[in-house]
Amino acid sequence: MTMNLPIPSLQSPVSNPQSPIPSDLLRFTTAGSVDDGKSTLIGRLLFDAKSIFEDQMEAVERASRGRGDPYVDLALLTDGLRAEREQGITIDVAYRYFATPRRKFIIADTPGHIQYTRNMVTGASTAELAIILVDARKGVLTQSKRHAFLSTLLQIPHLVVAVNKMDLVDYREDVFDRIVEDFREFSTKLDVRDVVYIPMSALLGDNVVDKSEKMPWYDGSTLLHHLETVNTGATRNAIDFRFPVQYVIRPSQDFRGYAGQVASGRVSVGEEVVVLPSGLTSRVASLVTFDGEQVEANAGESIVITLEDDIDVSRGNMLVRSRNLPHKSNRLDVTLCWMGETPLDPKASYWLQHTTRMVRALVSELNYRIDVDTMHREQAATLQLNEIGRVQLTTTEPLFFDPYQLNRTTGNFILIDPYTNSTVAAGMIRDRSRQVDELVDVASRGERPASENVVWEQGTISRAMRETLNGHKGAVLWMTGLSGSGKSTVSRLLEQRLYRMGCHTFYLDGDNLRHGLNGDLGFAPEDRKENIRRVGEVAKLAFDHANLVLCTFISPYAADRDFARSLLPEGRFFEIYVKCDIEVVKRRDPKGLYAKALAGEIKGFTGIDAPYEEPIHPELVVETDLHSADELVEQILDALRRAGIVGE
Ligand code: ADX
Repeated sequence: MTMNLPIPSLQSPVSNPQSPIPSDLLRFTTAGSVDDGKSTLIGRLLFDAKSIFEDQMEAVERASRGRGDPYVDLALLTDGLRAEREQGITIDVAYRYFATPRRKFIIADTPGHIQYTRNMVTGASTAELAIILVDARKGVLTQSKRHAFLSTLLQIPHLVVAVNKMDLVDYREDVFDRIVEDFREFSTKLDVRDVVYIPMSALLGDNVVDKSEKMPWYDGSTLLHHLETVNTGATRNAIDFRFPVQYVIRPSQDFRGYAGQVASGRVSVGEEVVVLPSGLTSRVASLVTFDGEQVEANAGESIVITLEDDIDVSRGNMLVRSRNLPHKSNRLDVTLCWMGETPLDPKASYWLQHTTRMVRALVSELNYRIDVDTMHREQAATLQLNEIGRVQLTTTEPLFFDPYQLNRTTGNFILIDPYTNSTVAAGMIRDRSRQVDELVDVASRGERPASENVVWEQGTISRAMRETLNGHKGAVLWMTGLSGSGKSTVSRLLEQRLYRMGCHTFYLDGDNLRHGLNGDLGFAPEDRKENIRRVGEVAKLAFDHANLVLCTFISPYAADRDFARSLLPEGRFFEIYVKCDIEVVKRRDPKGLYAKALAGEIKGFTGIDAPYEEPIHPELVVETDLHSADELVEQILDALRRAGIVGE
């Protein structure tokens, strides 16, 4: 099998960009198309930060003069290097290093031609910051949105929107403000944590390293200053020890070691480890590096592990701790970024490379494609180059994985076309497969209404800031189910638990909202739709303030629930089906309403003479006729922990 795979963790670039990550190191990636000035920007950073060698600079000056350019074309610096690299053909991502007295930097430089999805995904999997370049003259294009969306899918915590070429719009503040406004509006639909906007001219050096005198109205940081000071390290998974075995080293009969890189967590000599898939256990005898033995190894370190027992371990196996196992499944619910020239063939079988393992994978379902302009889910028969979709995969052998949200290394994979051997997709594992099928976005039925002559007033405290303060993420927990199914009982108990954990909650209850806010509504389908629409909007506002929003509404229509879902970023809406047999709820009848409905005193009562559409793909189903409320609350908390919404 070829090793020419564009996944940084599998190849050995010039030197090793995956080596241990001190906090004075920032990995970042740049995204933009050819014309946005990406090469110039990188050139400018290297040049002004004085990180290029004199001979390289001379060559660039010579080349610029040779072309008759009026200025030194810094893009030549990166493009020149790229040309060299392209002769090697096999890697798509080049790593460039530079340093200032404050910090070291690694840029995963992804060539900016049309295959940007591919380049970004492969270059960004370990990045902590992404620079999204926007041409000031063109504004926020689909491509910028795609870059931003990809960055959030990849869980890159920091975004910089670099509004470039300000010199070509006379350094006008209103042009910049407009772009910021457009981007903000779009980013409310994304799971972004931190966005900084910087107006600049990479060509002339404004606000890249040195503060521009042409834009006195801008009082923020220059790009380099931001890169030097942004917080790093928040997303590293330091808990779950995962060690995919890359090679078995056996120089002599007396030595047997397993070489690889600690994908996450850490391990010490003497600790018990389990070998997956065999399940055999042993203890770590030694940890060997080029510099000799050490007692502990951390995420990012390349090491050789020897074990106390002579058990069978081979390439593609994974060492983990016995009390902290990854998930195991051969049915996966994934997000796929398609990067093949040939579209996804839902009937084909692909090679799937996950850490150091290779298995065969079949697409069992293509659920939807995401329109990056609107973030709506659309029905699709295939995925084309650069398209992103949600897919269910079945693999020939089970994978040992963690959701990408929790572990970028054991949560990602690539698909390889078995005939051409080229990488056709990068994927992020969401979870094991659930029965997900057409989840087409209902919000695509129309935009949210807005009154005339109103503008959205952006607050100065972002959700991300509040989330940091709260110590948990915001999310909407949408309990749906028959009247009397136990939605409120479970939610009240859940809220108490969350309160004791120090979480910020916001409770929206069906009966309560029908006092006041929704007191003008009845129970006809249009009224219920309006009820859920208003509730969805309120839930979104509370979510924007980083609350855990508990909603208990019968919400019998799938389309209405999907509308509420569509208002939130991917991964923050938990549809929880509070399930209970109708005969049981009739017997419970806590408010005596079923008796009235059965006697014909209430018309259009859900479950009696009005429908309840069961959720087809809820995030969670809790069964109140089978488990106690305490158990169900545990199940919900567990799901929230797995999704990284609340901590352990
Ligand atoms: S929803 O269908 O619009 O989501 P919602 O959850 O707000 O309903 O309100 C449901 C509550 O209203 C029930 O718990 C019940 O107490 C009361 N109710 C009154 N009439 C009806 C009805 N026809 N169908 C269902 N619930 C009703």
